[in-house]
Amino acid sequence: MGAQNSLIEAAQQALENSIIYYQGEPVGTVAASDPEVEALNYDQCFVRDFVSSALVFLMNGKPEIVRNFLTQTLTLQVCEKKMDCFTPGQGLMPASFKVESKDGEEYLKADFGEQAIARVTPIDSSLWWLILLRAYVKATGDIALAYQPEFQKGIHLILELCLTARFDMFPTLLVPDGSCMIDRRMGIYGYPLDIQALFYGALRSAQELLLPNPSNATYIESVNTRLSHLIYHIQKYYWLDLERLNEIYRYKSEEFGETAVNKFNLYPTSIPEWLYEWLPDTGGYLAGNLGPAWMDFRFFAVGNLMAILTSLANQQQSQAIMNLIEQRWTDLVGHMPMKICFPAVEGRDWQTITGCDPKNIPWSYHNGGNWPVLLWMLAAAAQKTGRGELIHKALEIAENRLLKDQWAEYYDGKSGRLVGKEARKFQTWTIAGFLVAKDLTANPDRLALISFEEDSSAIACTL
Ligand code: GLC
Repeated sequence: MGAQNSLIEAAQQALENSIIYYQGEPVGTVAASDPEVEALNYDQCFVRDFVSSALVFLMNGKPEIVRNFLTQTLTLQVCEKKMDCFTPGQGLMPASFKVESKDGEEYLKADFGEQAIARVTPIDSSLWWLILLRAYVKATGDIALAYQPEFQKGIHLILELCLTARFDMFPTLLVPDGSCMIDRRMGIYGYPLDIQALFYGALRSAQELLLPNPSNATYIESVNTRLSHLIYHIQKYYWLDLERLNEIYRYKSEEFGETAVNKFNLYPTSIPEWLYEWLPDTGGYLAGNLGPAWMDFRFFAVGNLMAILTSLANQQQSQAIMNLIEQRWTDLVGHMPMKICFPAVEGRDWQTITGCDPKNIPWSYHNGGNWPVLLWMLAAAAQKTGRGELIHKALEIAENRLLKDQWAEYYDGKSGRLVGKEARKFQTWTIAGFLVAKDLTANPDRLALISFEEDSSAIACTL
């Protein structure tokens, strides 16, 4: 018990040390404070990284920093519509920000990807921002914040950005590669699950946060319609279990017209060989991506775990995802919860998909590395599905290593035994992810901050 307490205290202290102040107020946390490595942009507050910290603060009864973060990032959101392609799109939230000063005056400088490695667009930031705003309201009851005109405007801008008609005709969101936690080229352009699960969670959040007045009627209606189309599409077409795999395996191709069964013209020979044996009888998961003649059969953790939490996956599917994690524990959890995606791309695939990225070599970093931040999503998903034993098992593994390894950013190797080649130490979301997982086991009711009930109108649509 003593060791447990000192571990939690060490984590709390490290989280405290990561706080960024702006004009004397706490506004966020740095991504990492590794004294031995050049900071690059890890001294900034990343929107996606801050979500884990924010959950800890909300759980610890310290909502002010979350409120400040939401308010300040809202001022950074792009509000202008410009016709030039060198400025970020209207409604976008930054990937990260930092405090700078000029003539003795502090100001916040945002990065929308113009400075990030490979200039990747942070599509997930706006989605996480909405999910976090809803978590803040759940924790504090302060719906008045979300109802403020500036916040309603911010929500409108995000919705306009996501819901406008585009070149395609799918309910899923079309995005470029590297637009989320996996912010390097990893073949996740198009309709990656990680983004779709956050998109679904963001729309569910907007549904709760939009002031129910006549001027919001069109937004509310668009959100409702998109939600029901999105859930239908993902539950039906992304789902993979043995039965579904067998269907795809026997698909006819080149079907034309409305009655086509093989809607996306998937070719059975594109099913990778590893999947035949890997998929357990009682397990299943949502595929990584789906587009014309393309299903990405890789398992992605954020997408699947967030699908459970947001109820994008139905109850049966959620149980099957947890069965898969349990039965493929060595592959998906191994020596550190949990793998960001499985399996790694190797050989010629690695060359073409990553562009020969030396940071994303097989079983490292985004390409099949293990990320302790995912512990909180795993714990929350396990709790939601009534699989408490898995939380304890995962926590035990993490507890043995996290402090010793100084809160490493990620782990390498097929089963995640090695501290990642270029992993930062004192990575804030590793610290916060552990604290959230710990807190959820002690206070299961806090799951409500990040979890959504099944949407009954959506169920009707899928029948
Ligand atoms: C890396 C990760 C990204 C994270 C950032 C800060 O770029 O790929 O997901 O937000 O580091 O930790």
